[in-house]
Amino acid sequence: MAVKSIAVLTSGGDAPGMNAAIRAVVRAGINNEMRVIGVRRGYNGLISGDVFEMNLRSVSDIIHRGGTMLFTARSPEFNTPAGVQKAADTCRRLGVDGVVVIGGDGSFRGARDLTAAGIPCVGIPGTIDNDIQCSEYTVGFDTAMNTAMEMVDRLRDTSQSHDRCSVVEVMGRRCGDIALNTGIAVGATSILVPEIPYDLQRDVIDRMRFTQKTGKKHFIIIVAEGVGGVEELAKEIQKQTGVESRATVLGHVQRGGSPTLRDRVVASEMGNRAVDILKNGMGNRVVAVKDGRIVDYDITEALNMKKTFNKELYEIALKISI
Ligand code: F6P
Repeated sequence: MAVKSIAVLTSGGDAPGMNAAIRAVVRAGINNEMRVIGVRRGYNGLISGDVFEMNLRSVSDIIHRGGTMLFTARSPEFNTPAGVQKAADTCRRLGVDGVVVIGGDGSFRGARDLTAAGIPCVGIPGTIDNDIQCSEYTVGFDTAMNTAMEMVDRLRDTSQSHDRCSVVEVMGRRCGDIALNTGIAVGATSILVPEIPYDLQRDVIDRMRFTQKTGKKHFIIIVAEGVGGVEELAKEIQKQTGVESRATVLGHVQRGGSPTLRDRVVASEMGNRAVDILKNGMGNRVVAVKDGRIVDYDITEALNMKKTFNKELYEIALKISI
């Protein structure tokens, strides 16, 4: 069956580069003589029919913008069989032959369910956390890391002036990739991630004391959101080392801002690939990066994959951030 009409939506937490992915889907779709429909606010827009026809100019001037022009949401209603049916009915009513879903693994579970309801879907990993099991890379990760790095560089200035310790929480609920990479890039004395249980004495206090002996007077400790507890940690560090300590939670600042070159390029490649998959009559697929190349997997298979933590990079951090 020739695919004549596709829809695109963003779902879950937003990520810089989502706009670049939308743009690629719209332009590649139109290039393939498809009609492209934009869906507002994720699966909620499919349920309620909040959609609009897109053309080449609908996506002008967005490649450099953070956020998502389609808005995004987490949809409790879509998590019910009735919600999925309503969304599938909207697609049939609009004559939509396939849907591109840009989001995280919750959004891919939705894409799998909608495919099962008869509407072929393709997922594009869009989340700052880099926590999608099947992909080495998710759109938004590079921008978020660079934002976190820039913010911590600023904290370093003031920590250095006051001989303080800055304990900084970066995003990442289940995945320490932002923490690990930012930690390396800012020369953090300790990096605490959800993948590796930590020991306060060994992983924080002893490392600080060791570097104090070599003359170090200011410190940065990077903590992933999934580990949390930065206020308590700062107090404990101050108590045990005598170094005045401050906690900072970077929060949603990491989700905004103009996407980096890498995010724009990967988003463009992934958007193009998603349209190719639908054009070839396939659904229930997710686009991913493997060994630096764009690939795609069956969604069910992808959701069962295990994400590996970069232990080597972590070991390097332990060795050189002293
Ligand atoms: O998944 C991306 C993310 O930013 C996580 O790092 C964070 O835990 C979560 O979203 C925050 O979600 P919300 O936008 O609902 O506060």
